[in-house]
Amino acid sequence: MAFIVLMTLPHRGMAEPPSSYDGRLLFMTYCMICHGQDGRGNGPLARKMDVEPADLTVTVRVRSDIALKGIISGRGRQLVSGRDRHNLISDSMPEWKDILSDPEVESLIAYLKFVSTSKHPLMGNPEVGRDLYTRYCQACHGEEGEGDGVMTSLIDMDPMDHSNPLQMNKISNLEMVRSIKNGKGNYMPPWKEIISEGEIEALVSYIRLLSN
Ligand code: HEC
Ligand code: HEC
Repeated sequence: MAFIVLMTLPHRGMAEPPSSYDGRLLFMTYCMICHGQDGRGNGPLARKMDVEPADLTVTVRVRSDIALKGIISGRGRQLVSGRDRHNLISDSMPEWKDILSDPEVESLIAYLKFVSTSKHPLMGNPEVGRDLYTRYCQACHGEEGEGDGVMTSLIDMDPMDHSNPLQMNKISNLEMVRSIKNGKGNYMPPWKEIISEGEIEALVSYIRLLSN
């Protein structure tokens, strides 16, 4: 008897992406048509709806994770405060509990929190950025961007914590692009001869998603 065993092994050294990264992809598939690509409620289906899809860049900020979980999964009728129209989420917002798993809903919430708190738009393609980050950056910056990669045990080097949203909001996209191109301090290498402009923007985008 012959067995063929198929195993999917994780790509060696490939970091688990932050949950906001998965959330962004789920958002494109399930939410974009109503809430719009940037979450502002202006998706292609919005015009045809009686109830306007919410501008998630504004509303999400004041909602707890538990409230958001309830709203998205549709478990129970959701009473929410601070709304002009009505305090009950209408059924124009679909219930996702049979379609999305709990971890998927959590990823969506991480992404929505990112969208509503980050002052900086995503530039470039984070999928491309993820691959480059794994190959070239995580050795110093760490899998989750915390600044604790293997190289940091060799020498006294202290990259800032890229997973901290407060600190990350202080750095503009342009400053990040500049540091990546030209290097910074003693140990951050200059990448401009190695990585193209578009790829550098993709990296900035991936690093932004690490902060949630
Ligand atoms: C068919 C259109 C449609 C789709 C698809 C959709 N929504 Fe909604 N959503 C709405 C509408 C309309 C509202 C506003 C409901 C209301 O005001 O009663 C809403 C409200 C919300 C709210 C509450 C906003 C607040 O006031 O705090 C959240 C959160 C939300 N949607 C998240 C999502 C997520 C996440 C997805 C994807 C999994 C999604 N929506 C997909 C139409 C949609
Ligand atoms: C050899 C270690 C090392 C590698 C590899 C490395 N970095 Fe850095 N990086 C650093 C250090 C150390 C700093 C902090 C420099 C300082 O402030 O003096 C830094 C700073 C930065 C900054 C500026 C913001 C900040 O944290 O001060 C960005 C953005 C950045 N790195 C992105 C990247 C990207 C993207 C890659 C991969 C293409 C990468 N780094 C690879 C060590 C590294």
